[in-house]
Amino acid sequence: MPPLVAIADFMDPTGEAAEYLAGQGLEIRVGSPLWETRELPPDELIDLVGDADAIIGGGRERFPRAVLEACPRTRCVVKYGIGTDRIDTVAATELGILVANTPIVPATRAVGEHTMALLLGLTRRIQPIQRRARAGAWRIADLDDASEDLYGKTVGIVGLGRIGSTVARMLTPFGVTLIATDPYRDDAWFASAGVARVPLDELLERSDIVSLHVPATDETRKLIDAAALARMKPTAYLVNTSRGVVVDTEALIDALDHGVIAGAGLDVLDPEPPDAGSPLFARDNVVVTTHIASFTPPSVSAQMRAAADAVLAILRGEQPEHVVNPEVLLHRRGAGQSLL
Ligand SMILES: NC(=O)c1ccc[n+]([C@@H]2O[C@H](COP(=O)([O-])OP(=O)(O)OC[C@H]3O[C@@H](n4cnc5c(N)ncnc54)[C@H](O)[C@@H]3O)[C@@H](O)[C@H]2O)c1
Repeated sequence: MPPLVAIADFMDPTGEAAEYLAGQGLEIRVGSPLWETRELPPDELIDLVGDADAIIGGGRERFPRAVLEACPRTRCVVKYGIGTDRIDTVAATELGILVANTPIVPATRAVGEHTMALLLGLTRRIQPIQRRARAGAWRIADLDDASEDLYGKTVGIVGLGRIGSTVARMLTPFGVTLIATDPYRDDAWFASAGVARVPLDELLERSDIVSLHVPATDETRKLIDAAALARMKPTAYLVNTSRGVVVDTEALIDALDHGVIAGAGLDVLDPEPPDAGSPLFARDNVVVTTHIASFTPPSVSAQMRAAADAVLAILRGEQPEHVVNPEVLLHRRGAGQSLL
């Protein structure tokens, strides 16, 4: 019997990763693509992945302890993409299951570019101007409707990791002042990124644009709540391409309703998908995209291929390049034992 790889959810429309793995002689069982929004309840997910030697997923499906415990043979859960917040990595580590991801350049660059698009879409007022153009209005009649220069603004980056520092690099030629907060990076890291280190409160108070690039953790859940929003300037914009739970959605809607901040660019929301009647969709000063920041064809292809290569390495008993729970390495399932 060839090893079984269960692809619980996936994002390549052509299914190239499944084809690639099948071409290596593996048995492949495929769930549904990421653009289908229904999450499987645990019993259905266990039917799909419970007997697999390796799992690819974590984009839509959740892997809590109960699901991982029902996977006695599984060596790994590999997330195509970066955020592994849908996988209980503590339980995985205890069970000897390696969690890997694909934080590779095509993905971080794509998210960086998307962040720039949201940020420039807000400052250049693309959404209201397009609406005016469609209604037959040309140029502007009121200076309050004019675009804003990015030049001279202060941009605050919350989480100066791979994507945060990519955004900092992309912003540098615009002539902005860059400040950032990240308690887990040292001063040398900030210096090499060319970004001034400030505490979060100061960043919120000084920034014209606050851009979020932290992982979803207990510490970052609702990091941007009513109190944080109240610290921001009434002229400031909030951009979130990280995870929806980092922002308190109700507090954000309230802040927009009361002019506490000037607008928001959101690729991620809590919950996802949002209610179709969400007040966020009714606002000209809010740009919403559908958690697609990393979705460009080269990025999708590279991430699915990287996930497949990580699975192959793990099934050979080797260590993949990007391990999310390195504590598992001393006792992980199948270390040094090849199934191929
Ligand atoms: N929108 C999308 O489609 C999409 C795609 C890829 C990644 N993401 C998300 O982007 C985020 C960043 O990804 P990355 O590859 O840059 O990750 P990363 O791990 O390289 O960087 C995250 C940074 O956040 C810092 N951090 C952690 N807790 C913090 C806190 N409380 N305050 C400030 N900083 C903190 C970490 O020290 C780290 O430097 C993740 O949430 C990821 O899930 C979104």
